Amino acid sequence: MSDKSKNTAKRIAVIPGDGIGMEVIAEAVKVMKAVTKKTGRRLEFTDFDWGADRYVKDGTTLPTDAVEMFQRDFDAILLGAMGDPRVPSNVHAADILLGLRFKLDLYVNIRPCYLLDARRTPLKDRTEKDIHFVVFRENTEGLYVGAGGIFKKGTTDEIALQEDVNTYKGVERILRYAFDYARDKGLKRVCMSDKSNALTFGHDLWQRLFKKMKAEYPEIEASHQYIDNLLMQMVRDPSQFDVIVTGNLFGDIASDLGAQLAGGLGLAPSANIHPGKVSLFEPVHGSAPTIAGKNIANPMGAVLASAMMLDYVGYGEEAEMIARAVNAALREGAVTTELGGALGTREAGDWLVEWVEVIT
Ligand code: NAD
Ligand code: IPM
Ligand code: MN
Repeated sequence: MSDKSKNTAKRIAVIPGDGIGMEVIAEAVKVMKAVTKKTGRRLEFTDFDWGADRYVKDGTTLPTDAVEMFQRDFDAILLGAMGDPRVPSNVHAADILLGLRFKLDLYVNIRPCYLLDARRTPLKDRTEKDIHFVVFRENTEGLYVGAGGIFKKGTTDEIALQEDVNTYKGVERILRYAFDYARDKGLKRVCMSDKSNALTFGHDLWQRLFKKMKAEYPEIEASHQYIDNLLMQMVRDPSQFDVIVTGNLFGDIASDLGAQLAGGLGLAPSANIHPGKVSLFEPVHGSAPTIAGKNIANPMGAVLASAMMLDYVGYGEEAEMIARAVNAALREGAVTTELGGALGTREAGDWLVEWVEVIT
């Protein structure tokens, strides 16, 4: 690598958001600074105060020029979480988080469910090799597009509609991404999940495109499970999965379950990407208002999300270092209280920083 490319900073937009989002992102930034200090490569962080506080103060959600600005001025975005009891409509989360997913066209939501330490799964007698799969969640359509409406609100004649939007292009590109991923990583099995036995229009499209994809990738063992069965199978025998691909809502649900199988929601990272374009990285968990501000949230999901981000922007060495640090912390029990450890959020971040400084 030339000296010039070595010293060009990657520009990271940081949106800590609400609740524990602020606490875990502070730790992720600390850890990223530690690993880049080691490698000598540069990151430039710019903070955005979007979230419930700002919304309550002045009504700001996603500024109109935000999408263009991210595309022009940034390599990636790191987000904490959105959600606050003061905003029961969740309108700021819809505008900011879902807004960025849609407007940046981040059609792949990657949610790895990798058990890093066998002691941490709630399943009996399972080890790291049994729980090692990734959920690809369609991220730009489905029930999330906001198509619908409420008529005669507040009356006993009320009608509430929420449309499930499935497009040929949208379904095809997420399926193709999952199949390409499996092929490129040498993984054998792709499981597509839908509810085509009941949702006979929208998910019929998933069925037809899945069959087309199956024919295009004969080397992949492509299987199908209805979503209700899939969730049961994830608990019964998670070792049957390498790659799961599904729609927006089902992927949201399956990834929280997958996170717990892999040791806990506090450990789970995710990437919202459009290959080659500015993309957004976040932990799978939310703002957890009941534990916010107490220095008890687990920062590892955010830290691992930042590793996914560094890998995406070309800092693979730093990403690898972070993964090793988190693995070491889990092995040594240097974890927060929900995992049975004694560390606070900041102390868990400090432990990772110190490991990077001393060991690597
Ligand atoms: P949540 O993920 O915030 O919390 C679920 C449970 O997991 C809670 O018991 C919480 O204490 C625990 N938990 C979550 N993260 C943890 C961590 N890092 N360390 C330790 N424990 C952790 O989900 P929820 O309670 O359903 O939602 C709370 C708010 O967050 C809502 O407003 C919701 O809409 C929002 N939310 C936002 C995102 C996001 O921005 N990406 C994701 C999920 C939920
Ligand atoms: C997630 C969250 C969001 C979603 C909410 C906050 C809208 O649960 O990222 O998993 O459903 O996508
Ligand atoms: Mn979710």
